Amino acid sequence: MTDKLIIAHRGASGYLPEHTLESKALAHAMGAPYLEQDLALSRDDQLIVIHDHYLDRVTDVAEVFPGRQRADGRYYVIDFTLDELRRLRFSEGFKLVDGRRVPVFEGRFPLFRSRFALHTFEEEIEFIQGLNATTGREAGLYVETKAPWFHKQEGKDISRATLKVLKRYGYTSKESKVFFQTFDYPDLQYVKGTLFPELNMELKTILLITDDPRETQVLKDGLWVPMDTDYLLNPENFEEIARYADGVGPDYHLLIDGAHSLQGTIVPNALTSQYRAAGLAVHPWTVRADALPDYAATVEELFAALLDKAGCDGLFTDFPDRALNFLQRRRQGA
Ligand code: G3P
Ligand code: CA
Repeated sequence: MTDKLIIAHRGASGYLPEHTLESKALAHAMGAPYLEQDLALSRDDQLIVIHDHYLDRVTDVAEVFPGRQRADGRYYVIDFTLDELRRLRFSEGFKLVDGRRVPVFEGRFPLFRSRFALHTFEEEIEFIQGLNATTGREAGLYVETKAPWFHKQEGKDISRATLKVLKRYGYTSKESKVFFQTFDYPDLQYVKGTLFPELNMELKTILLITDDPRETQVLKDGLWVPMDTDYLLNPENFEEIARYADGVGPDYHLLIDGAHSLQGTIVPNALTSQYRAAGLAVHPWTVRADALPDYAATVEELFAALLDKAGCDGLFTDFPDRALNFLQRRRQGA
């Protein structure tokens, strides 16, 4: 039984607001080998660590900058400068119900308590590298460019910007402790075929997998249209994907036979083995102890189903301590 790779999803986001430096510090202290970054570009081309490419779910932007929303009602990161973004208060995620803020996850860090703020990718790398130096334990980066297609539509190349920062901080080869991930498969082909040679670097790459075509838009006959998810899920394509990706990051629900799974008997489907047969590592997302599927009685049962029964190489979780404890007990044969 080899050890599996645990990725702290948006930091230790089960305990502290996602993507804050505080949530990264906690995940680092828990011993997570990889800490995740999601990135969006600001109006003045700064890489911001944030999951959505809009600000509505996790900040007070509507109060601080009324009227700056687009026609769809959302406030986009790309419409604000870094100085403006620094004026926002950051919170655990919420949704609006009858005009009231309601937590997305009950029982997580209270909304708009204490003081959290947005920060840049460079600030996060320096923070993690600083912790690596003081603790002597090297946590890696697991970096996602959010919606490269959207940034392209806005005239920006987020992948080039991200790679240039990574190179500046010493992440240049497949041996570097970093993964580069995206849902946007045409953009990952561009990263592999154009940007890596041009920037004289080559990192480990992960293609994220979903069955939601709205996650990525692709150019077809000169028009931006939702992607064809069959490309990501049909085993006939996996060898081609392996030419530009070292692994895949699927929504974990896609790896389980939900119709035949019950608590105590979770049944994986063939997908994990099919990706792995093409030489792709498999790192599914996102295991949440406070949002389990009906077929898992405990988060440990879900860890076991994905890592042992399905044979995944690692996973993303909001609760890295629970995954690391699971692995430790497994090593001890408990
Ligand atoms: O990047 C892996 C996982 O985080 C993908 O889902 O939406 O949380 O970025 P999301
Ligand atoms: Ca992500």
